[in-house]
Amino acid sequence: MTILISGANGKVGTALTAQLKSRKLAYIALDHAQLDITNSAAIKQRLHEYRPSIIINTAAFTQVDIAEQQQEEAYRANALGAELLAQAAANQQIPIIHLSTDYVFSGDKPLAQSYVEDDATEPASVYGKSKLAGEQAVRNANAHHIIIRTAWLFDEHSDNFAKKLITAAKQQLDLPNPTLRIAANQYGCPTDTSDLASAIVHLLQTYASKATLPWGTYHYAGEPAISRLEWAQEILTTAQTHGLITRLPILAPTTDTYYIGSAPRPANSALNCTKIQQLFGIEPSQWRNGLRHLVQTFSTDNEISCSDKSS
Ligand SMILES: NC(=O)c1ccc[n+]([C@@H]2O[C@H](COP(=O)([O-])OP(=O)(O)OC[C@H]3O[C@@H](n4cnc5c(N)ncnc54)[C@H](OP(=O)(O)O)[C@@H]3O)[C@@H](O)[C@H]2O)c1
Repeated sequence: MTILISGANGKVGTALTAQLKSRKLAYIALDHAQLDITNSAAIKQRLHEYRPSIIINTAAFTQVDIAEQQQEEAYRANALGAELLAQAAANQQIPIIHLSTDYVFSGDKPLAQSYVEDDATEPASVYGKSKLAGEQAVRNANAHHIIIRTAWLFDEHSDNFAKKLITAAKQQLDLPNPTLRIAANQYGCPTDTSDLASAIVHLLQTYASKATLPWGTYHYAGEPAISRLEWAQEILTTAQTHGLITRLPILAPTTDTYYIGSAPRPANSALNCTKIQQLFGIEPSQWRNGLRHLVQTFSTDNEISCSDKSS
C-alpha cells in the first residue's frame, strides 16, 4: 500500500510522515511546491506518477485571522483544493482521508456538552466556512472518504499557543507583577499532533488489512476539554515544574483575543470522540502527556515569535 500525503510540510503532514517513516510504511510526502491541490493538472500528474492506494489531505489554508481578509485564498485551498483532490482520487477509485476542524461549529452548545459528528454546523469565521465547504465537497466528490475533525493542535516543533505562552511568561519574569491576559470564554480540546498522526496511522493500517473503512466523518481530539484559561494554567504549571519558568505569572481572565487572534472563534468547540473510539478503538489524545513532552523539549534557543494565529 502506498500512501500519498499532501501538505506534507505542515504540522500534521510532518508528524504523520515521521510516524510512517518510523513504522517503515510506504509513503509519498508532497509539500505545497510538489503538489498544489488547487492545480488539477498537477494532481492528475502526481496520481498517475505515484498511483497511491490512499490519499491523506493535510494541505490547507490554516491562518484563521488572515483568512478573514483573504477569503478567496482560504476558499481556494480549503474548498476548491479539497474538492479537486477528492474528485481526482474518486476518478481512480482511491479513497481519501481529509482533515477538518472544530471551527465548523458555532460553539453555542452549553459548556457541559460536546459536539458529535452529526450536530448542525454553523461556522462563524471565514476559515471555518471554507473548511466546511471543503468537507461538503469531499463528501460529494468521493464516497470513499474519511473526514477527521480535530482541534487545538500542538507539538514541540511548530509555533503554537503553548509555546507563545511560555515565551511570554519567560519574558515577563523580571516584572514585579507579571500578568498575562487569557481568554476565559473559549472552551475546547487541546490535541497532541503526534496522537492525531497515530490515529491516522491506525486508520491506514485498518484500511491495509480490510481493504475498506467505515467511511464518513469522525472527531478526534484531546481530553479533557478545558477553557483557554485552564489550558494556559496547565501549560505554565507544567513549564514551572520542569524549570522553564521560576514563578507563575498572574493569569487574568479576559474575553478579548490576546494570544489567539481576532477572527471569531467558537465559545465551546469541544469534540465528542466516542464514534472513532467505538468503531476503531482509537483513544482520545491525552494532552497532558503531549504537554509534558513539549515542555521538556522547549529550549531558549528555540523560542518562537508571537506571530502564529493558526487554529
Ligand atoms: N493546527 C490546528 O490547530 C488545527 C486544528 C483543527 C484542524 N486543523 C486542520 O488540520 C489540517 C492540517 O493542519 P496543520 O496544522 O498541519 O496546518 P499547517 O501546519 O498550516 O500545514 C498546512 C500545509 O498545507 C500547505 N498548503 C497550503 N495550501 C496548499 C495548496 N494549495 N496545496 C498544497 N499544499 C498547501 C501549506 O504549505 P505552505 O505553508 O507552503 O502554504 C502547509 O504546509 C488542516 O486541514 C487544518 O484545517 C488544524
